[in-house]
Amino acid sequence: MKDSIYLDNASTTYPKPQNVYDYMYEFYRTQGFNPGRAGYDASQETAEVVQGTRKMLAGFFGGTDPKYLTFSYNASDSLNMIIQGVLNEGDHVVTTNVEHNSVLRPLNHLKRDGVIDVTHVPMDDRGFIDPDDVRKAIKKNTSMVIMNHASNVIGTVQPVKEVGEVCRDAGVCFAVDACQTAGVVDVDVEKMCIDLLAFTGHKCLLGPTGIGGSYVSEDTPIRCTRFGGTGIRSAYRFHLDEFPYRMECGTLNIVGVAGLKAGLEWINEQGVDAIHEQEMKLWSRLRDGLRAIDGITLYCADSPENHISVLSFNVEGSEAADVGRMLDVEHNIACRTGLHCAPLVHKQLGTDKIHGTVRLGIGPFNTEEHIDTAIEAVREIASIKKIKNTSV
Ligand SMILES: Cc1ncc(COP(=O)(O)O)c(C=O)c1O
Repeated sequence: MKDSIYLDNASTTYPKPQNVYDYMYEFYRTQGFNPGRAGYDASQETAEVVQGTRKMLAGFFGGTDPKYLTFSYNASDSLNMIIQGVLNEGDHVVTTNVEHNSVLRPLNHLKRDGVIDVTHVPMDDRGFIDPDDVRKAIKKNTSMVIMNHASNVIGTVQPVKEVGEVCRDAGVCFAVDACQTAGVVDVDVEKMCIDLLAFTGHKCLLGPTGIGGSYVSEDTPIRCTRFGGTGIRSAYRFHLDEFPYRMECGTLNIVGVAGLKAGLEWINEQGVDAIHEQEMKLWSRLRDGLRAIDGITLYCADSPENHISVLSFNVEGSEAADVGRMLDVEHNIACRTGLHCAPLVHKQLGTDKIHGTVRLGIGPFNTEEHIDTAIEAVREIASIKKIKNTSV
């Protein structure tokens, strides 16, 4: 990535803070033992790092007890466990049009197999879900409302607290995909009435890939959906029902946990609000710059309020993939194009017919210079396109 500008942070953040690289290396060189599987000191020390990170993350998400904070491979993994562990035959689920495939596909499979029924609540013109629409979609047999905290395509931060209150009133389980917000927007399971939270380590939490997890609020009925070794009570024939074991089996990705710990330490040092504010300053600069270019359609809300630093756009008359290729090849700018694993957003926007959007995702290490270079690059691409169009 030398000399190139990375604007694909919504996909995965890059680079990570230096302390993440340093700590992961040091930890694996000196403490890379199997945690909780043996009594020797080194294994116990590794277990302490895992336990310490559990505690940090549970606190970070406003949870009451670290044992309910469990690790997985990523958000998709945890969302599968949540969806398959809570839903039963005959259940109805309310979700939204802004979801990622890691929510839509597990639900679609259960629906196709005749297990559940699903209602998708559309977003409003500005890209927000109205809690009242969620309320209206809840039926007698609705057992879960599941939605993301922020869209990975249009960047809108959803009113999860208000939706959480709707769910509490209705006695329905509330699950939130905090993939795009954990690390840049406050997530508080207690205040937001969230029963099940899924997060990923490699985006705004600034950890590596291969680590993510969930927080399950006390007394939320969730079954264990995968079984295996836990390191304790090996003579027992079945997987342990108690937390954290209910949600974890096999050896953990300890290097991933270590990276997540270091990422979280960096975030706590900077402050979630400060990171978000800095990213949104750049986002506003990018939005204003792109808005001033002829032939650009932006897909975002009007203001940086309730927004994350993701910006989708199209250049009139161009395929998103072609614009992305030109940004990459001619301007050395990395971005993502297409449907971004969220097909229903595009269906509602109509961008499914033109194969999606170009998405720029700003991270904590982007600068004004990066943004200005990206604006000039898009201006050049749009002007070439215009010349071509007028000369045909
Ligand atoms: C909103 C949202 N949910 C879920 C995911 C899946 O995350 P992961 O690939 O880490 O499982 C993503 C990743 O792009 C996302 O943006």
